[in-house]
Amino acid sequence: MRKEETSMKIGVLGTGTVGMTISTKLAALGHQVTMGARESRNEKAAEWARKAGGKAGHGDFPRAASDAEIVFNCTSGGGAVAAVTAAGKESLKGKILIDLANPLDFSAGTPPRLLFHGEDSLGERIQNALPDTKVVKTLNTIAADVMVNPGLVPGEHDLPMCGNDAAAKARVTLLLREWFGWKSVIDLGPITASRGMEVYVLFWVHLMGALKTPVFNIHVQRKGA
Ligand SMILES: NC(=O)c1ccc[n+]([C@@H]2O[C@H](COP(=O)([O-])OP(=O)(O)OC[C@H]3O[C@@H](n4cnc5c(N)ncnc54)[C@H](OP(=O)(O)O)[C@@H]3O)[C@@H](O)[C@H]2O)c1
Repeated sequence: MRKEETSMKIGVLGTGTVGMTISTKLAALGHQVTMGARESRNEKAAEWARKAGGKAGHGDFPRAASDAEIVFNCTSGGGAVAAVTAAGKESLKGKILIDLANPLDFSAGTPPRLLFHGEDSLGERIQNALPDTKVVKTLNTIAADVMVNPGLVPGEHDLPMCGNDAAAKARVTLLLREWFGWKSVIDLGPITASRGMEVYVLFWVHLMGALKTPVFNIHVQRKGA
């Protein structure tokens, strides 16, 4: 297995719980992380960069994407297409964008609804908005703490992934193992599989309510495994 270079330039679009969790973990691993927000002076991003120290930076979405070798989309489902478009079609050209956002609508409270579903998904909308970017959808089906620390959930469990570019998915699979410790990734195929991955999140919300914890995941038992 190829060991990735020890320090990569990584852009993280998003200043919420997920953006903070991903950025903090990657910065702790020694990567040069730039957190992006709508405004270059976003106070949460500035404070995160101050606390993270070292090579951590912050700025607007274009700044976070421009220098990055790989970019995470950790923005709200309703804002994600605007966020990645603002980040820049040109600067994201040819790059891997890991999309972990869900198109959730909390306007009528909890449980949320999906903003859109059926023959549509956020993963596809992002891929359509960025045709020259390799969008890999993954990590959207688990809580933020579990994304960067799958060992919080005991036993074997699986992470779904999809995207149109096989090499990009293979690289992200290696990175998820190396950075966060993910041992089992299930490739669901092209980006259209986002439809199922995003709808699953409604079920996840009900599971969380029943289990009274967000720290869980699924494991798929297979015949002959
Ligand atoms: N929370 C979890 O454990 C979890 C688990 C799995 C997946 N997810 C998904 O991960 C994503 C991030 O979740 P979160 O809870 O960390 O944060 P969030 O509150 O859903 O999103 C915050 C980010 O979205 C940006 N944003 C909001 N409206 C926007 C708009 N109209 N245009 C452009 N950007 C906009 C914000 O920009 P500013 O920084 O400028 O305010 C901020 O950076 C969501 O899609 C969520 O469904 C969350």
